[in-house]
Amino acid sequence: MDQRPIGIFDSGIGGLTVLHAIGALLPSEDLVYLGDTARVPYGTKSTDTVIRYSVENTRFLLSRDVKAVVVACNTASAASVDVLRSEFSVPILGVIEAGVEEALRLSVSRRIGVIGTYATVQSGKYESLLRQGGVADVASIACPLFVPLAEEGWTDNKVAEDVAHIYLEPLAKAGIDTLILGCTHYPLLQGVIAKVCGPGVRLVNSADSIAERLKGQLAAAGIENAAGAGNRRFYFTDSAERARIVGSRFLGEDLENRIQLVDLTEFAHH
Ligand code: DGL
Repeated sequence: MDQRPIGIFDSGIGGLTVLHAIGALLPSEDLVYLGDTARVPYGTKSTDTVIRYSVENTRFLLSRDVKAVVVACNTASAASVDVLRSEFSVPILGVIEAGVEEALRLSVSRRIGVIGTYATVQSGKYESLLRQGGVADVASIACPLFVPLAEEGWTDNKVAEDVAHIYLEPLAKAGIDTLILGCTHYPLLQGVIAKVCGPGVRLVNSADSIAERLKGQLAAAGIENAAGAGNRRFYFTDSAERARIVGSRFLGEDLENRIQLVDLTEFAHH
């Protein structure tokens, strides 16, 4: 039993899909969310920069006394989870390992597809973990336009469908049976993605898999909080107004006046 909150960070607003899944599975845990909206997107930045941002985000969350850190951003997970584990002593969970575990569980044909940001795909992280899991056939594709579509709320119109077709046709042809949605924003486009891929492809939403993994890890370490109130605090590094509008859409509930603006300058030391 440990009453401290769980920290979750993302490059921006998309990680609220992960917070949503964690909140649904672990309703009595207190959650602290940090969205680095001042520096989003991470998906087009270099590994070194994403590592630096991730370290600062983690320091901020630790200053809020969190007992574990969930890296909700796929790009940040790909770049920084190993560094964070070596620098900080609290459990650090990344969405990539969680998504891989779930995909390995689901795939029968052992042909797996991955979609994510440029940085995530370029990191090769999903591929190497899937290969370690015995999957030789991995097809990965960057789908950068899905991020602004999701933020705009254009998730089930013609434009979204056309974009999904263009990106995903090669994957559909590659004969995969499982597709990892390797980016915080993609669960919002799940409908059009499923339509393009067809019924033979199962979609892995890493938000759900990381929530399960977190539950298991908290229980194993004896640091769960079964009797808490499930309080949530939301911090963003830029304009609380946009975070409120778009964030409420991602979370499915109004964030209203629960948002605080935070300046990470003091965490950018050493
Ligand atoms: N959160 C990022 C991810 O999951 C998407 C947005 C960005 O590029 O920062 O990869």
